[in-house]
Amino acid sequence: MKNFFLAPSVLSANFSKLGEDIQKSIDAGGDIIHFDVMDNHYVENLTFGPMVLQSLRDYKISAKIDVHLMASPVDSLIPKFAKSGADFISVHPESTNHIDRTLRMIKDYGCKAGISLNPGTPINYLDYVMDQLDMITVMSVNPGFGGQTFIPESINKIRQVRQRINESSNNILLEVDGGINIKNISDIALAGANVFVIGSALFGSSDYTFVIRKLRQELKKVHFNLMN
Ligand code: DX5
Ligand code: ZN
Repeated sequence: MKNFFLAPSVLSANFSKLGEDIQKSIDAGGDIIHFDVMDNHYVENLTFGPMVLQSLRDYKISAKIDVHLMASPVDSLIPKFAKSGADFISVHPESTNHIDRTLRMIKDYGCKAGISLNPGTPINYLDYVMDQLDMITVMSVNPGFGGQTFIPESINKIRQVRQRINESSNNILLEVDGGINIKNISDIALAGANVFVIGSALFGSSDYTFVIRKLRQELKKVHFNLMN
């Protein structure tokens, strides 16, 4: 079983040949596909909806897909993404009036449930929903755009969330989203993350295999340090 998962972000892929580009990122060693849904309301940007997800499934993309909903209202989107092939669905607590109900709805539709915490969102949002969660995402940039710089204060938050996960008896993935690259992935892993969203650092390169090999080399060092 893998300790660390790399999640290529569709947001930075080539939209004119999406299926092909996403398959290339998986062939290069990507583990989970990260699918950023933005609605020009909760965030300023506008991306893609469930039909695009369905078309990736029709193209036979079989990797797990992690749908990151940056949309408000959000509840009515959940059944649509679940039916279009999502494995994980993550929501921001500020995008719903009833986060517990929203997370339960994700589970009711057969998906794994995640909560995504913006840089300014306190982690006490986790207090009463830990039992509903399969994944916690620490946003290391403010949501809305790819290609932003990693916010260094996120490291401390990742450590705090790691502690919360370890204190619970639940098996919860800790994802970090935004500004991850070959230079900072080891610090992020050391702080306790195990799922790494990689957008521009991967799709901005002409050699996906090279980038993923480099990222894994960095992660291997961390694994070795943690074991010794
Ligand atoms: C930002 C998105 C990210 C984005 C990350 O709102 O949630 O998933 O794709 O892209 P990079 O890796 O370029 O920061
Ligand atoms: Zn995202």
